[in-house]
Amino acid sequence: MKLIFIGPPGSGKGTQAKQLAERHGIPHISTGDMLREAVAEGTELGRQAAPIMASGGLVSDDLMVGIIKERLAKPDARNGFILDGFPRTLQQAEKLDGIVAGNGVEPLKVLQLLVPDETIVKRIALRRSCPQCGAVYHLEHNPPAKDSVCDRCSTALVARPDDNETSVRKRLDAFHRQTMPVVSHYRSKNAVYDVDGQGPIGEIFERIEKTLAQG
Ligand code: AP5
Repeated sequence: MKLIFIGPPGSGKGTQAKQLAERHGIPHISTGDMLREAVAEGTELGRQAAPIMASGGLVSDDLMVGIIKERLAKPDARNGFILDGFPRTLQQAEKLDGIVAGNGVEPLKVLQLLVPDETIVKRIALRRSCPQCGAVYHLEHNPPAKDSVCDRCSTALVARPDDNETSVRKRLDAFHRQTMPVVSHYRSKNAVYDVDGQGPIGEIFERIEKTLAQG
């Protein structure tokens, strides 16, 4: 399975992609997680990306394509992968097509999670994540067992610096202007599967599995 998850910020890409990757035994490759790791480690990439991410803008295509090219060349991605947060621009999509073309015959599939903007703004306000292991929670829909502490590693949960309303609105704008052309690009190849991203997390997961099994 070579799958791209596309959806607006906070649509549940990370939540669903992690579970799906575990079930199918393939890597979940999240460019957002990779960038946040670089920021936490204080690398040159992290220093460049941090202010762009906090403001809700996009990191340059050249940087992102380089990161993904290197990641997809690793042995664990040979039998499939789930991309989450990449490609986000038409240029990234075209470069990805070139990388994958030389990498076997299985075509890319795109799973688009559909969630209205106003639901997103409310959802993101209550997201909390673990700075240690990356687990993601929602204070109402997917709360940790103990208040503000990660179930897996007991680290104190934090809100992401880009989860304020101004940044979320900017990320939504970037999604509509820069990422929707990616959906059109793959739709013209009949590769897009739309899934309603509203409702309980488990139900959405079953919808995704069913859609992929039929596709
Ligand atoms: P990235 O980390 O990719 O952020 P994003 O696309 O904005 O997506 P999110 O991580 O915010 O949300 P998600 O869809 O994964 O939702 P989640 O599952 O967490 O990128 C961050 C930044 O990095 C970008 O803004 C950009 O600056 C940069 N970047 C990354 N990739 C790039 C690229 N390719 N090019 C250029 N720049 C790039 O769920 C959200 C919340 O909702 C959680 O609290 C969750 O528990 C909850 N939730 C999930 N499902 C449900 C449900 N069904 N009902 C209720 N709550 C739910």
